[in-house]
Amino acid sequence: MTQQIDQVELKRGLRDVYFETTESSNVIGDVGRLIYRGYDIHDLAEHSSFEETVFLMVQGHLPTRSELDLFETSLREARAIRPEIVDVIRSVKDAHPMDVLRTGISALAAFDPDTEEVSHEATLRKGIRITAQVPTIVAAHHRIRNGLDPLPPDPSLDHAGNFLYMLLGEKPDEDTTRLMGKDLIVHLDHGSNASSFAARVAASTLADLHGAIVAGIATLKGPLHGGAAEGVMKMALEIGDVANVEAYLDAKHEKHERIMGFGHAVYRAEDPRARHLREGSRLLAEKQGQPKWFQILSKVEEEMRPFAERGICVNVDFWSGSVYYLLGIPEDLFISIFAVARVPGYVAQVLEQQDNNMLIRPQLQYVGPTDMTYVPIGERG
Ligand code: ACO
Repeated sequence: MTQQIDQVELKRGLRDVYFETTESSNVIGDVGRLIYRGYDIHDLAEHSSFEETVFLMVQGHLPTRSELDLFETSLREARAIRPEIVDVIRSVKDAHPMDVLRTGISALAAFDPDTEEVSHEATLRKGIRITAQVPTIVAAHHRIRNGLDPLPPDPSLDHAGNFLYMLLGEKPDEDTTRLMGKDLIVHLDHGSNASSFAARVAASTLADLHGAIVAGIATLKGPLHGGAAEGVMKMALEIGDVANVEAYLDAKHEKHERIMGFGHAVYRAEDPRARHLREGSRLLAEKQGQPKWFQILSKVEEEMRPFAERGICVNVDFWSGSVYYLLGIPEDLFISIFAVARVPGYVAQVLEQQDNNMLIRPQLQYVGPTDMTYVPIGERG
C-alpha cells in the first residue's frame, strides 16, 4: 500500500494513517471487537436501545432515566417533516432513495433555525432533529414513489418501530421492533469509515452540520461502502436453493470474483456486528416460515470458512440484507436503512471535530508534467 516516489511517502487510500484522536468508537480489527465510548457493541446490542445508544454517542455517557426520557421526547417531537420537504421529495421521487435522502437533508437546512450556527449546542440540537427526520424522509419517499401518501409519525412507537411503521404501513410487533433497533445500534458508528471521514472533512472547514451530513450520505451510497447488503441478497436470490451454493461459489472463485458480505478493510476476524443480525435473520426466517434464505446464507458462510485463514471473514452486510428482505423492505432501500443508523454517528464525529477542530487538508503528490507551453485553441492540431 505504501509507495516511495521521489522521497514522498504515499499512503494511498490513507490506509493506516491516523489523522485525529477519537473517543466515539474503536474498531479492533484483528480480534473483531467494536466499542462505542468504552462499551462493547455486544452489550449495547443486547441491552440498550437505539435512542439510548445515540445519547451515549452524542453526549459521551449513558443517560440517567430522566435524561433518556427527555432525549426520547425530543427525538419523537422532531420526527415530522414540513410540507415543503414533502414537496421536494415528490419532485425528485424517481431518483435513487439515497439521492432523495441527500436532497431531503439539504432541503431541511433551508428551514432549520440553527443551520449556520456551528456551536456545540446548536450542532447537538440540529443533530437530534436530523436524526429524527431521516427515517421520516426515507419512509415518505418510499410511500410517495408507490403512489401513497406519507404516514405521519406515531409517537407511541420508538425510533425503530416508528420507522418500520412509516415505511411499511403496519405497526411492527415487539420482536421485529427490537431487531430493527439492534440493526440500527450496530450500524451507528464505525471509526474512520469513509462517510464519517467525509462528514469530518466538511465539518473541519466549519461548514454546518447539514452540509457535513450530506457529504456523509453521498459517500455512504458507494457500493464499496454501504451497498454490499443489497449485493448479498442478490447473490442469495441468484443461488436460489441451498443445493446450488457450492457450484455458485466455485464458479465465482474460478473467475476470482469477490463474494459479497465477506472481507473488510479493518476486520481480520469476524465482524462483531454480524452475530446479532445472523441470529435476527434466523429467528425472523423461522417466524415467517421462510427458512430458505437463512439456509442458503448459512451454507455460503460455511463454504467460505477456509477464507478466514486469509482474514476474509463474514461482515455485517452478509446478514443485514436477509433481515431487510424478510421484513419486506425493497433492496434499493437497504443503504437508506444504513443511513438512518449512521447519521447520529456523523453527528457524534462532527461534534468531536468541531470541539477540537483542525482543517483536514492532506497533500496530493503531483506527478504530471510541469513545463508545458500554452498553445491558443486555434493553433492546436
Ligand atoms: N471475496 C473473495 N475474495 C476477497 C473478498 C471477498 N469478499 N474480499 C477480499 N478478497 C481478497 C481480494 O481479492 C484480495 O486478494 P488478492 O490479494 O489475491 O488480490 C485480498 O482478499 C485483499 O483484498 P483487498 O480488497 O485488498 O482487501 P480490503 O481489506 O481492502 O477490502 C473490501 C475490503 C473492499 C470490503 C473487500 O473485502 C470486498 O470487496 N468485500 C466484498 C464487498 C463487501 O462485502 N463490502 C462490505 C464491507 S462492510 C461495510 O462496508 C459495512
